[in-house]
Amino acid sequence: MIYITGDTHGGIDMAKLDDDHFRAQFKLSKADYVIIAGDFGFIWQNNEKEKEWLSIFKELPYTTLFIDGNHENFDLLRSYPEEEWSGGRIHRIHDSLFHLERGQVFSIDGKTIFTFGGGKSTDRAFRRPYISWWPDEMPSSAEYQEGLRNLERYNWKIDYVITHAGPARVIETFHGSFSPDSLTTYLQAVAERLDFSRWYFGHYHLDRIVDTRYRVLYQSVIPLGE
Ligand SMILES: [Fe+2]
Repeated sequence: MIYITGDTHGGIDMAKLDDDHFRAQFKLSKADYVIIAGDFGFIWQNNEKEKEWLSIFKELPYTTLFIDGNHENFDLLRSYPEEEWSGGRIHRIHDSLFHLERGQVFSIDGKTIFTFGGGKSTDRAFRRPYISWWPDEMPSSAEYQEGLRNLERYNWKIDYVITHAGPARVIETFHGSFSPDSLTTYLQAVAERLDFSRWYFGHYHLDRIVDTRYRVLYQSVIPLGE
């Protein structure tokens, strides 16, 4: 079983996964997954409090997967060991917590999942480079290319897409002042070419269904496929 939810922001938005809100967790085991669609936020300061938080994920009944958002410490994230897992590249934080890298295709429970983290910070002016903001929040051209290469390998047919930002045309349906950037334009091009069943993304801090197939996620925790 795989569940998916939106941004957690290093504990600020973790209540949705607590015992009272996420009752389904009691039926899950470490062979089940909860995926966080970016702005995970627990790989940030590397202090004792944060290490305690990270070890709490070991105690949860399921395995946690996350893609990166815009609010991550990318230097710290890259310091974790990298390996191949279920068909794609990950950083293993520990045995119950993996970061799914950009432009990868994973096969989990018989379903193919394309992942692409990153996003542009709208609060950039209030943040300091390499302390609370990293240019790596936006993908490199190598990451964009890798995503295309991997989709090519699957003949542009994937079950589920998980991103942090969303495709430009989809964002325009709910975001009045939105202007496209390289990532949302890239995701739009992927959306127009890809054969997929559901596309999940976070970042916009709202829960909404757009055009049946797109799910903007924040506080909701839903089974993958819904
Ligand atoms: Fe966020």
